[in-house]
This record gives sequence, structure tokens and C-alpha cells, in this order.
Amino acid sequence: MAGMLSPSVMCADLLHLYDEITKLDSLGVEFLHIDFMDNKFVPNITFDTNMVRSFKKAMKNIRRDIHIMAFEPQKYFDNMEISAGDMVSVHYEACEDVHSVLAEIRSRGASPCLAISPDTPVGVVKDFMSEVEAFLLMTVYPGFAGQPLAPKSMERLAELKSIVSASGKDIKIEVDGNVSWDHCVEMRENGADIFVAGSSSVYGQKYPLEEAVKVFYSLVK
Ligand code: DX5
Ligand code: ZN
Repeated sequence: MAGMLSPSVMCADLLHLYDEITKLDSLGVEFLHIDFMDNKFVPNITFDTNMVRSFKKAMKNIRRDIHIMAFEPQKYFDNMEISAGDMVSVHYEACEDVHSVLAEIRSRGASPCLAISPDTPVGVVKDFMSEVEAFLLMTVYPGFAGQPLAPKSMERLAELKSIVSASGKDIKIEVDGNVSWDHCVEMRENGADIFVAGSSSVYGQKYPLEEAVKVFYSLVK
């Protein structure tokens, strides 16, 4: 299965979001990575739930990849209108009852995904193998774009891949944070399937967006 792209909309031109999203849609990109932050789980705020819901109006084929960096994320599902086609990542570190939050995502017809931050042991995922469609491995400390890779990210990715492979389940691995032009190749080699592309790649200065998307796919095919 070829690598899939999930450009991080918080890194796009925030004054032209409609155009940015329709451009990605026309380029055939699989996901739009939408970071939601509560200023408690992480010391930052990006889009509110009304924006996360409104993004759908600009999306025809591209799917919402909603990364909720917030405590008790289920509080936001209604206003985000979580529904079939969405992939929703919630943080292991932010949920009182991870199992019930993942089940709530599934009950809305969306794809449950469990995110783990850099200081969380990768092995915690073993309790959720039959409840997720993907794991989101944070390769930076969540909250801000433009950060350097967190320590041991590649080893953690390889460990996560071996757990998923041993399970025999079709669970995708998404990487998020400093997925640069160089890192994305090594991440693909270590088992990543979905790449959150932000300021370190498609929203960097090296290429215009259309060309950046083509180059990225050539690196992770
Ligand atoms: C950080 C966000 C990432 C970030 C990626 O908490 O989850 O999506 O925007 O951007 P770069 O590529 O700059 O790390
Ligand atoms: Zn993210």
C-alpha cells in the first residue's frame, strides 16, 4: 500500500483556507490533518469546533484527519459533526476512559485512531489493537508546528510497526511532527503509512504546494 498524505492545515495559508483545502482536494490528497487544541492538554489553541465542522464544506473527496489534543475529547464530537469518513485521533494521555472514547468514535461511523505522545511507552497500544483503525505516533511533542524530531522517534516507530505486524491486523500507522523531506523516507522505511506534512515539508519554502505534493508521494510510495 502506497504512503498516504495528510497535510497539516494549521501550517497552510490561514488567510485563504478555502482555496488551500480545495487545492489539496483537487490534487487527490487522501487526508486533511486538522489539529484541535484545548490550551490545557497542550499550551496552544488552533481551530475551534465550528471551524473543524466548517472545513467539511470545502471538502469533496479528501477526508478529515482530526487530531484532538484535548482532555476528554468526546465533549467536542457533536459540534465537530464527527461522522463516516472522518478519521479521529484522540490522545491516550488525555482520556479518562480510552476504550469508551474510541467506541464513541466508531458509533458515529468514523475511524478511531489512538495518538501517543513521545514520552508514552509504545507498548500501551497493545490494549487497543481491536478498537482502532490507526495509531498516531507523535514524533514531536504535541502543540506546535516547526519543532525538531522528538528523541528516539524512529526506534519508537519501528517498535510500533512490529507490534502492529505481530497482531496481523490492518492497522495503519500515522506519523505527526517534523515529517521533513529527509525524515519521511526513513519513516516510510520504519513502517509509517500516513504522513502529516506540515512546515517541515509541503508547507515549507522548498516547492510550491502542487510540486511539493508530487515530490512527497515520490518519496513515500
Ligand atoms: C503539532 C501538530 C502537527 C504539526 C506538524 O502538534 O500536530 O500537525 O502541525 O507540523 P511540522 O511539520 O511543522 O512539525
Ligand atoms: Zn497533528
